[in-house]
Amino acid sequence: MQINGKEYRSLWYEDDALKMIDQNLLPYEFEIKSFTDHLEVAEAIRIMTVRGAPAIGAAGAYGMALTILNAPDEKFRNHIRKAHGTLIAARPTAIDLSIGVNYVYESALKFIPDLSYTRHVALLAAHEFANNIVRECQEIGVLGSQVVPPGARILTHCNAGALATIDHGTALAVIRQAHREGKNIFVYVDETRPRLQGAKLTAFELEQEGIPHAIITDAASGFYFWKGEIDMVITGADRICLNGDIANKIGTYEKAVMAQVHDIPFYIAAPVSTFDFACVSGKDIPIEIRSEDEIKRIGENIICNPGSAALNPAFDITPAKYIGGIITPKGIFEPSEAAQKVQL
Ligand code: MRU
Repeated sequence: MQINGKEYRSLWYEDDALKMIDQNLLPYEFEIKSFTDHLEVAEAIRIMTVRGAPAIGAAGAYGMALTILNAPDEKFRNHIRKAHGTLIAARPTAIDLSIGVNYVYESALKFIPDLSYTRHVALLAAHEFANNIVRECQEIGVLGSQVVPPGARILTHCNAGALATIDHGTALAVIRQAHREGKNIFVYVDETRPRLQGAKLTAFELEQEGIPHAIITDAASGFYFWKGEIDMVITGADRICLNGDIANKIGTYEKAVMAQVHDIPFYIAAPVSTFDFACVSGKDIPIEIRSEDEIKRIGENIICNPGSAALNPAFDITPAKYIGGIITPKGIFEPSEAAQKVQL
């Protein structure tokens, strides 16, 4: 992705450390943080320095590799098993996190007791996991752009951009590609309360790339559906089940229902690491509940009645019946057959 005219990934490995753009500071400040320890990486995932399903998968993969690289020879297995648990527990909803951590853990484990080779393989596996995501996102963009008509006015929710996926994005890869093909698109960006990933991060990425867009409040999309000014909806996902139900940022379900009511296509875009082949339906997906402070405060300021409780589920479930298609690197599929098709 371009940031101020320079090419960046949202995270990468350099000088024996995992580097990540601090997404909590964007768009006001641009800062790259350095991580050399899995505990720091787990905390960065928990507090959302890095966020977005594929990006936390890759951060988890590098966190696991860092542990394997640095674990003492004595009690090596114990050490890395503990780190594996800590990393996976950092956030519960996006399956990509455990897929990324397991990818490195299982690749490296095979070579114990040759610890020097185990360490070598761990880092290679993390690179491979991250590079696969980048390639898949590029493919999602090219395939997905085929369903974007010229002049489309597209609604997106949360940030499913390069920041959320290392590079290109999922929903935003499609939008980027359609823009590059000169399709003259316009993007409605849901602000995405309470963390404002749309207003802060998606809007930032679109501006950097010169893609025409406007931020709307989460409640405003109904008005634009009603006016006939939204032609399609594209979002990412945090977990996709066998039956085609998906979890994504809180508010996604409402957009999907509104799209169906207005006969507008609703697409999900996701790499293979977002599929959970053990998850039968949306009822099996653990939904992360975050702090009520994210709703009640902006910075230091309380913005509501201080004595009231607030409920803050970070994700919701969109049932398969509201999803027109799932855009994957292997094709665009009906939700109910997508998990099967991406495994072929
Ligand atoms: O809480 P976040 O910011 O990690 O949530 C991110 C989302 O819900 C994204 O839409 C999803 O991870 C897809 S990102 C390609």
